[in-house]
Amino acid sequence: MYSTDLSSNQVFNFTDGCRCPRSHRLALKLCCAGLVLLLLTVVGLSVLVRVLIQRPSVEKCREYIQESITELTGNPGKLQCPKDWLLHREKCICFSRDSNIWKEGLSDCARKGATLLLIQDQEELRFVKNSIKERGNSFWIGLNYSLPDKNWRWINGSTLSSDVLQITGEAKINSCASISKDKVVSEDCASDYYWICQKEPKVSETRCNDS
Ligand SMILES: *[C@@H]1O[C@H](CO)[C@@H](O)[C@H](O)[C@H]1NC(C)=O
Ligand SMILES: *[C@@H]1O[C@H](CO)[C@@H](O)[C@H](O)[C@H]1NC(C)=O
Repeated sequence: MYSTDLSSNQVFNFTDGCRCPRSHRLALKLCCAGLVLLLLTVVGLSVLVRVLIQRPSVEKCREYIQESITELTGNPGKLQCPKDWLLHREKCICFSRDSNIWKEGLSDCARKGATLLLIQDQEELRFVKNSIKERGNSFWIGLNYSLPDKNWRWINGSTLSSDVLQITGEAKINSCASISKDKVVSEDCASDYYWICQKEPKVSETRCNDS
């Protein structure tokens, strides 16, 4: 019995350690409740302000997503070439109006922000030959015979692969390749021919009113 009394007394002392008057404790509780309310109001207000500030950017984001979806669903930007340039696949192609030696063709293309034509595959070769048919001339392309390694080399540094095209005629020092409506020929680089330049098309944004 004695020990039980002692323990309950201890518990009582522990939970009611404060000996201030009742009114005091009430004031403290009210004060605490007030503080909590104030805190909640401040948090609420700051959240509201943040949402209000962010709304425009959220809408922009939604627009951006909409645009991306439009692009993904088959309305890609159009590839565009400058006036007088032909668009073929991912390339703009231009046939010169003047004729000159191979080196001059090379620098004329450079002046136009382009390079002499590099022929990637059989399909492109066919397309270029067909385009030449209407013009009936021979044109320099970006392919010449380089001596140290005795190889035909594209001006981008790659060697010619024989499954893209065969070259008619003898390859010797100062040989450059020209293309006509039916073949690619080894010619003296100092001969006079027209030339073909190529460059990358621009990607324009499409709008729904574009025809
Ligand atoms: C250079 O051009 C040729 C012909 O178009 C192409 O096959 C080759 O991959 C190109 N090389 C480089 C390094 O771009
Ligand atoms: C062949 O082309 C390269 C550039 O790719 C150039 O440096 C070289 O002088 C050309 N050779 C001739 C004979 O024009």
